[in-house]
Amino acid sequence: MCEECKKTYYVTTPIYYPSDNFHVGHCYTTVIADALARYKRLNGYDVFFLTGSDEHGQKIEDRAAKAGVTEKEFVDKIIENAKDLWASLGITYDRFIRTTDEDHVATVQKIFDKLLKQGDIYKGSYEGWYCTPCESFWTESQLVDGKCPDCGREVKLTKEDAYFFKLSKYQARLEEYLAANRDLMQPESRYNEMVNNFLKPGLKDLCVSRSSVKWGIPLLNDPQQTVYVCIDALTNYISALGHGSDDDSLFKKYWPADLHLVGKEIFRFHTIIWPIMLMALDIPLPKKVYGHGWLTMGGGKISKSKGNYKDPREFIKDYGTDTLRYFLLSEVPFGSDGNFSEELMVERRNSDLANVLGNLVNRTVTMTNKYFGGSVVKNINITDLDKEVIEYLDSMAKDVDDKIEALNMPAALKEIFARLSRLNKYIDETMPWALAKDEAQKDRLNDVLYTILEGIRMCAIELECAIPSTSQRIYQQLNTPDAGFANIKYGSVEKYTVVEKPEILFARIDEEALKAKLEAEAAEAAPKPMVYKPEITIEDFEKLDIRVGTVLECKKHPKADKLLLFKIKCGTEERQIVSGVAKWYKPEDLVGKKITFIANLKPVVLRGEESNGMILSAADENDNLEVVTINGIEDGASVK
Ligand code: MSP
Repeated sequence: MCEECKKTYYVTTPIYYPSDNFHVGHCYTTVIADALARYKRLNGYDVFFLTGSDEHGQKIEDRAAKAGVTEKEFVDKIIENAKDLWASLGITYDRFIRTTDEDHVATVQKIFDKLLKQGDIYKGSYEGWYCTPCESFWTESQLVDGKCPDCGREVKLTKEDAYFFKLSKYQARLEEYLAANRDLMQPESRYNEMVNNFLKPGLKDLCVSRSSVKWGIPLLNDPQQTVYVCIDALTNYISALGHGSDDDSLFKKYWPADLHLVGKEIFRFHTIIWPIMLMALDIPLPKKVYGHGWLTMGGGKISKSKGNYKDPREFIKDYGTDTLRYFLLSEVPFGSDGNFSEELMVERRNSDLANVLGNLVNRTVTMTNKYFGGSVVKNINITDLDKEVIEYLDSMAKDVDDKIEALNMPAALKEIFARLSRLNKYIDETMPWALAKDEAQKDRLNDVLYTILEGIRMCAIELECAIPSTSQRIYQQLNTPDAGFANIKYGSVEKYTVVEKPEILFARIDEEALKAKLEAEAAEAAPKPMVYKPEITIEDFEKLDIRVGTVLECKKHPKADKLLLFKIKCGTEERQIVSGVAKWYKPEDLVGKKITFIANLKPVVLRGEESNGMILSAADENDNLEVVTINGIEDGASVK
């Protein structure tokens, strides 16, 4: 097909917060989007697949400050982590957009300015309870026990100048549009949730700028203010295509998006705020937004903070990319939450990938070598049994297509595995080993093996979007080119000459050994009982003279990178203390602070500098360290 005649397909994932701690839950959206993109490409579509990173906001500002680097340096460093993870999962995105990319920044600024100039955005002031980690304002009534309703953390009463977006102006138009385009929100059930819970009660104007957040995109007309991250992030779907730039050819070609694939917690942004932004900009709405469920572990959303996190690359190292991809695509009923565990993933690998698929390929290649020196030709005769199997194989493409059109990957994979199981059954029914004993059955044996090889090849084509490297390995073993959907029909191959030695596609994993390994890991991760030093008496303790001191000066030790030299004021005297905290503090960090120190420790000379005492600090197992500081007590005071 000529390139220009191809139908286009534009699929997006959300853009991810930069993180060093991606878990399998993060991989879920991206693997599904990748499988869809691959499937559409195989089907002859001209696909644009977008993913990226959402890099602005207070959290990044704080984390960068803590790491002692600029925000850009901070995100530049950790963004590689996402790219590395996506590469190890075989993600075939066409662009990885970063909200710090110049073209994105320019588009966001232009859009904001346009909405401001046309009166959809206006300046006002905002007073509310602000949750810093969530970067959200809440009204008094929204708070739960005085805390953030989303994360349960402390909130601060804050008032600031801000810009507001008149969402309410577009409410009726959006309601009408969504009712007339019921296909836009998927699954169906989420339509009612959005309309009844958010639209019907009435939309309030949305605060779309922040003066308190510096790490963001400044407004063109008021650079003290930055664009609210949600607006900044949503715009990526069109800025990535060059909307509003000198070259908007991609935008013209691919917009409106065929599919925004998002987790259920951000569905609302994508089906209310985003469509209203587009309406206000006079841009067509996306065709579909699919809100998928969460991958859960032990009953809750997977998260680093809950400790149920494991780097997906560990699974890939142990079981291969396709095992993880297959699990993510097949296990969770689409739209609902689904459980993840390493055991479940291995069970799936053993039962489906090793037993059904791997075994079938292995047996068939082995038999083709054993009975025909590796070569069989197209069926000579077709029995009733063959006919039934062939029809079933030929109906696969449509069945899979229907399921994928409905975005139901698990159901699509079931269709393929049902065919693979049928082929295994066909082997039991035809018993090639028995046919091989009878010279008169040679042709029948050829036909049987050809039928199975054709079936395997057809299934491999259908599986290519889900487990691409496995399909390639199958083509290699069957010694047949990767001809894609054009050759999906049964009988497209005239002759097979398979490899001499079949390669095991998926070695079985010993589930007992895995159980033992996981139990050992759990024991290792379990909280350890506290181990204290041997007991001392109060007299022993009283020997220590611990005091509060004010840090007057602090500088680097001239000869040791790990050490800082502190000048400490304690009541009427001053002293020098050498402390090994240079890894956690810059010299200026503690100047003016009140610290605590052991005042009667015998002086020592550390790399040529005298140290008169020891500054107290607390350190945990994760290599965090904090010097103990005191606020309201005068220096010289004793610590008891
Ligand atoms: N930056 C926003 C999205 C802005 S899009 C304009 C964001 N980022 S995120 O990194 O927190 O999440 C990215 C995606 O990962 C979301 O779709 C989210 O639902 C998904 N997942 C994160 N944890 C998940 C699970 N445990 N299970 C399934 N998906 C989950 O939100």
